Amino acid sequence: MEPSQPTRRASRRRFTSGAFLAVVVLSAIAFFLVLALLMNIFERKQEARNPYVRLVEVSEETTSPEPWGMNWAREYDDYKRTMDVTRTKFGGSESLPEQKAKASPWLTRMFAGYAFALDYRDRRGHAYMLADQEDTKRVTERPQPGSCLHCHSAVIPTYRRLGDGDVFKGFEALGKMTYADAHAEVVKTGSANPLAGTETRFEHKEGAHPVSCVDCHDPRTMELRVTRPGFIRGIQALADGDEPVAHIPSIERWRSGSRGRAYDPNADATRQEMRSFVCGQCHVEYYCGPKVALFFPWNKGLKVEQIEARYDEYKFPDGHRFFDWKHAETGAEVLKAQHPEFEMWSQGIHARSGVACADCHMPYKREGAVKVSDHWVRSPMLNVSRACQVCHQYPEQEIQARVNAIQNRTNVLMQRSGKALVDMLDAIKTAEANGASEQDLAAALELQRKAQWRLDFVTAENSMGFHAPAEAARILAESIDYSRQAEIRAQRLGTKAPASP
Ligand code: HEC
Ligand code: HEC
Ligand code: HEC
Ligand code: HEC
Ligand code: HEC
Repeated sequence: MEPSQPTRRASRRRFTSGAFLAVVVLSAIAFFLVLALLMNIFERKQEARNPYVRLVEVSEETTSPEPWGMNWAREYDDYKRTMDVTRTKFGGSESLPEQKAKASPWLTRMFAGYAFALDYRDRRGHAYMLADQEDTKRVTERPQPGSCLHCHSAVIPTYRRLGDGDVFKGFEALGKMTYADAHAEVVKTGSANPLAGTETRFEHKEGAHPVSCVDCHDPRTMELRVTRPGFIRGIQALADGDEPVAHIPSIERWRSGSRGRAYDPNADATRQEMRSFVCGQCHVEYYCGPKVALFFPWNKGLKVEQIEARYDEYKFPDGHRFFDWKHAETGAEVLKAQHPEFEMWSQGIHARSGVACADCHMPYKREGAVKVSDHWVRSPMLNVSRACQVCHQYPEQEIQARVNAIQNRTNVLMQRSGKALVDMLDAIKTAEANGASEQDLAAALELQRKAQWRLDFVTAENSMGFHAPAEAARILAESIDYSRQAEIRAQRLGTKAPASP
C-alpha cells in the first residue's frame, strides 16, 4: 500500500499540473476564439459600412464617372447606355428628339413670347443633359442664369469651391451668374481635377459632366444621398408646411416630433424614400429665372393648385407678383410648368403604395450571383418584365395595354384642352381688336393664367398621365373649364359695339 501512496500523490500532482496546463491552453484557445469572433464582427461591420473592394479611391470631388466605373463596373456599364437611342409611343428619345410642338401644335401659341416657343424638345437619356442644354436655342439665343446647371451637371464641387466650402453659398453665387460664366466655372472645377478623364459624352468639355455617381452616392459608403440645394430646401419647406404627405412617412414622423432641427432628407428619410428623392433633385417643378435664386415651390404642398397658390402669393424683389412671362398675344402674366414628375407621382397610387421611382426606372436585375440596380435609367416600358411584372403578374401585353389605355385617354383630353386654349386666345384677341381694354379683360386674363398653368403641368410632365391618371384628368378638366370661362367672358366683350373710330 505504502509505495502506492507517493505514486498516487505524484499522479495527483501530475494530474493537477496537467489540468492546470489544460485550463491554460483551453482559456488561451477560448480567448483567441473570442478575439477572432470580435475581429470578425468588426470586419463585417466595416464591410457593411464599406462593402466594396475598391481599385481606385473616389471622393466628393470625383465628378467623372470613369474612376467610379473601375470599382463598380456593372453600374457604370448600364449608366453609359443612357447614350443609346430608345423610343416608346409617348416616351423614350431619338438621336435629336422632336420638337414637342410637332405632336401638339397649340404649344407654340401657348408659349407665345417665351423662349419655349423657340425650341422645346422631348427629353432623352441622361448622357445628353449637359450637351442638350448647351445647344438649345433657349440658351444660345436668350440670356439664361447659372441656375440652369443645378440639374444638368455634376455641379456640387463647383458650389463648394465658390462658397469657400459652403455648398449653399456657392449655389447662390452661381445662380447670380450668366449661364456662360457659370458654365466656365464648372469647366474650371473639372479641369483642375486629375481624375477628370478623357473627352467623351461623359468627360465632356474638359471635365464638366452630366449627372454622375457622386450626385446620388456618398463616395465613402456608396449609400444614397441627395446633394442638390434646391431639393434640400424644397423638401424642408414641404415638411414645415401642413399639407399631409402620407407617401413620405419620414416627414410625418418628423412633424410629430419636437421639430428641434430642420427636416434633413439625408438623415431622416428611409432608404425607400431615398430611391425617389434622388430623382426629385431634378424631375420637379421649379423657378429658375434671373430675378431670385432657384427654388422648388413646395411650402403649401405638391398639388398643382398648391404650387399655383405659392406663386400667386410670391412677390419679386420689385414688389410685382410672380410670373414667368407676359403672353405675347394677350398680355397675360403667365406661368411655365416644368417636368413635375415627383409632384405627379406623389398624387398617384404607386407613391401611396410605397413604390419608388427607382423601382420602375432602375429595377433590379441579376448578373451571375449579384443583384444590381439597372443604371440605364429609361422608360420602364422598354423593360416591363423587370420593372412591372415583379409586382403585377399579368402578361406583358396586358400591362402594356393598361398603360396605353391611360396614356391615350390622357392624350385625348390634353389635345382637347389645347383646342380650348386656342379658342380662348382667339376670343381674347378678337375682344382686344374690338377695343376691349386690358381692364375689361382683366378677369379673362386671370383665367388664362390658370388654364395655361394646368394644361402645361400635364404636358410638361413626362409620363403622359401614367404617374397619376385620375389627377392628370382632373387637372386637364379644370384647364378646359378655365379656358372656356375666359372665352365666354371675352366673347361677351367682343360682341359689345366696337369703339367708334
Ligand atoms: C409604377 C412605376 C413608375 C414609377 C414609380 C415612376 N414612374 Fe416614371 N414612368 C413610368 C411609366 C410607365 C412611364 C411612361 C413611359 C413611356 O411612355 O414610355 C414613365 C415615364 C417617366 C418619364 C419619361 C420617360 C421617357 O422615356 O420619356 C420620366 C422622366 C419619369 N417617368 C420619371 C419618374 C420619376 C422622377 C419618378 C419618381 C418621382 C417616377 N418616374 C416614378 C413608370 C413609373
Ligand atoms: C430643377 C432641375 C432643372 C433645372 C433648374 C433646369 N432643368 Fe432643364 N431639364 C430638367 C429635367 C428633369 C429635364 C428632362 C425632362 C424634360 O425634358 O421635361 C430637363 C430637360 C431640359 C432640356 C431638354 C428638353 C427640352 O426642353 O428641349 C433642355 C434643353 C433644358 N432642360 C434646358 C434647361 C435650361 C436652359 C435651364 C435653365 C433655364 C434648365 N434646363 C434648368 C431639369 C432642370
Ligand atoms: C441632376 C439632375 C437629374 C437627376 C438627379 C435625375 N435626372 Fe432624369 N433627367 C434629367 C435631365 C436633364 C434629363 C433630360 C436629358 C436630355 O434630354 O438631354 C433626364 C431624362 C430622364 C429620363 C428620359 C430618358 C430617355 O431615355 O428618354 C428618364 C426616364 C429619367 N430622367 C428618369 C430619372 C430617374 C428615375 C431618376 C432618379 C433615379 C433621375 N432621372 C435622376 C435630370 C436628372
Ligand atoms: C440618379 C441617381 C444615381 C446615379 C447618378 C447613380 N446611381 Fe447608383 N444607385 C442609385 C439607386 C437609386 C440605387 C439603388 C440603391 C438602393 O436601393 O439602396 C443605386 C445603387 C448603386 C449601387 C449598389 C448596388 C446596386 O446596383 O444596387 C452601386 C454600387 C452603384 N449604385 C454605383 C453607381 C455608380 C458607379 C454610378 C456612376 C457610374 C452610379 N451608381 C450613379 C442611383 C444612382
Ligand atoms: C413594387 C411594386 C410595383 C411595381 C414595381 C409596379 N407596380 Fe403598379 N401597382 C402596384 C400597387 C401596390 C398598385 C395599387 C393597386 C393594388 O394595391 O393592387 C399598383 C397599381 C397599378 C395600376 C392601376 C393604377 C391606378 O391608378 O389605378 C397600374 C395600371 C399599374 N400599377 C401599372 C404598373 C406598371 C405599368 C408598372 C411598371 C412600369 C408597375 N405598375 C410597377 C405595385 C407596383
